[in-house]
This record gives sequence, structure tokens and C-alpha cells, in this order.
Amino acid sequence: MTASSIVFNRRLEGKVAIITGGASGIGEATARLFAQHGTRMVVIADIQDQLGHQVASSIGMDKCNYVHCDVADEDQVKNLVESTVQKHGQLDIMFSNAGIASVSDQTVLELDFSEFDRVFAINARGMALCVKHAARVMVEGRVRGSIVCTGSVTASHGWKNRTDYCMSKHAVLGLVRAASVQLGVHGIRVNCVSPNGLATPGTSRLLGKSMEDVEKVAETYARLKGVALNVKHVADAVLFLAGNDFVSGHDLLVDGSCVAP
Ligand SMILES: NC(=O)c1ccc[n+]([C@@H]2O[C@H](COP(=O)([O-])OP(=O)(O)OC[C@H]3O[C@@H](n4cnc5c(N)ncnc54)[C@H](O)[C@@H]3O)[C@@H](O)[C@H]2O)c1
Repeated sequence: MTASSIVFNRRLEGKVAIITGGASGIGEATARLFAQHGTRMVVIADIQDQLGHQVASSIGMDKCNYVHCDVADEDQVKNLVESTVQKHGQLDIMFSNAGIASVSDQTVLELDFSEFDRVFAINARGMALCVKHAARVMVEGRVRGSIVCTGSVTASHGWKNRTDYCMSKHAVLGLVRAASVQLGVHGIRVNCVSPNGLATPGTSRLLGKSMEDVEKVAETYARLKGVALNVKHVADAVLFLAGNDFVSGHDLLVDGSCVAP
């Protein structure tokens, strides 16, 4: 291994990171990649306790912890962030990734507001709570931290259905843009990673299809052919945003040139 590859492989050396929704899919893949890149501690925050503990122990309990946290609940988010700082000294990276899709394919004509409220509670309110509390401890600790939120290609296009999901991801982009302006003075960077559709346990459950079948559907969403988007592609983009020193307020599309339906 050359000296430059060692530096490249340890891009997050000594950093403390929180990943919400880290028990599955994009969050899990990012937790594993962060640990490979030298983070001192990755705290996985999720509501799937058994899975979260399994992922943390497979990464190694000296490098990864699991904390139960429903991101829609401000007390739980505050506790997650403050307990991380208490136990591990500081917070360098917040990957605010937990999110859900609406269960039904509703257009605006059929919009069901109980579902709308559930999607917004997690995707928009939960995201804002994670950014708020992470930024507060970063400012207090004078940490030039990095916050990355998971958006979606639906934040940049109109969509033929899932109106509430599309709206909630537009809200994530608004949050990232506002927070990057407001937190830049503290040296804190805030960015968004916006994947196209891909196979994860979440999409597989939602669509009632196997991961292989979701992958086939997802391939039709990208103009780029010959490769299917996977969680590792998204985790690579998050790693870039977390480890870079000057990119802020950016929405990094990982979409293989999206074909918006
Ligand atoms: N898979 C896709 O096609 C796709 C595309 C674009 C954006 N995204 C976004 O990527 C993110 C991750 O999704 P994924 O596809 O990896 O799904 P996933 O279901 O595999 O993982 C999401 C994780 O978030 C957790 N979670 C859900 N609600 C939570 C809450 N209230 N508090 C804490 N954790 C909670 C789940 O338990 C799960 O472990 C989401 O924000 C999603 O909107 C996904």
C-alpha cells in the first residue's frame, strides 16, 4: 500500500459521526464505509433496535455504537447528540439520513393527510431536528463539522405520484440551503446527497418486490446504462461530502442522469 492510498483510505481519521437510519440500506453502507475510513466512533441511530445492534457489533463495538432514536422526537434527537458528545468528546459529522416513503402512490387528488403528516414528521421535521441539534453541539464545541442530509432526485423534479414524499424532499433541500448559509460563519458545512431510486431493504419492503426486482425497476430511472445504482455509490458520495473541506450548500445528485417520470 502506498503512502497516498493510506491517506485516501483514512479520510475520516479520528472523527466522531452520527448516522440516522444507520441500521439498514444507505445508512448501514455509509456506517461501514466511515469505519473503513478511520472514524473513531460511528453512532448508528435508528428505531430498528435488533438490526441496529447487529450492524454495530459487526462493525466492531470499539468503533460503532447503536442508540435507539426516533428522529421525529426532539427529546430523543437531543439526547442522541448530547450523549454522543458526552461519551466520545465531540461530534464531527452528522449524516441525517433516516427517511420513509409514503405507503400509497397518491397524487395530489388523493392526498391523505394522515400519511402526509407521518412522512413530514420524519423526512422534514426529523431532518431539521438532527441538523439543529448537531449544529448546536458543533458550535458550542467550536467544531468545524460536516452535516449531510439525504435528499432524493424527487427534490429536483415534479413526480407523477408520492406527492408528500416529493414535497418532503424539497423541504430537505430548503433546509440544507438555509442551514449552509447560516452555519458557514461557524465553519460548519451542510450538504445534501440525492440518490435516484435504488434497491434497499426499505424500497424492497415498500414495493413488495425482491431486491433484484427493485434493481431492475430502478435501472429504468437512470439514463446511464450498464451499472445499477447501489448503496455503495451513495455512501461514496456521502464520504466525499463528509471528508471535503470546502463544499457547502451543495446537492450532490447520485442519479446516473435521472429520467424523471
Ligand atoms: N432507496 C431509494 O430508492 C432512495 C432514493 C432516494 C432517497 N432515499 C432516501 O434514503 C434514505 C435511506 O433510505 P433507504 O432506502 O436506505 O431505506 P431503509 O428503509 O433501508 O433504511 C432507512 C432506515 O431509517 C430508519 N428509520 C425510519 N424511520 C425512522 C425514524 N423515525 N427514526 C429513526 N430511524 C428511522 C429505518 O428503520 C431504516 O433502518 C431515506 O431518507 C430515503 O428517503 C432512498
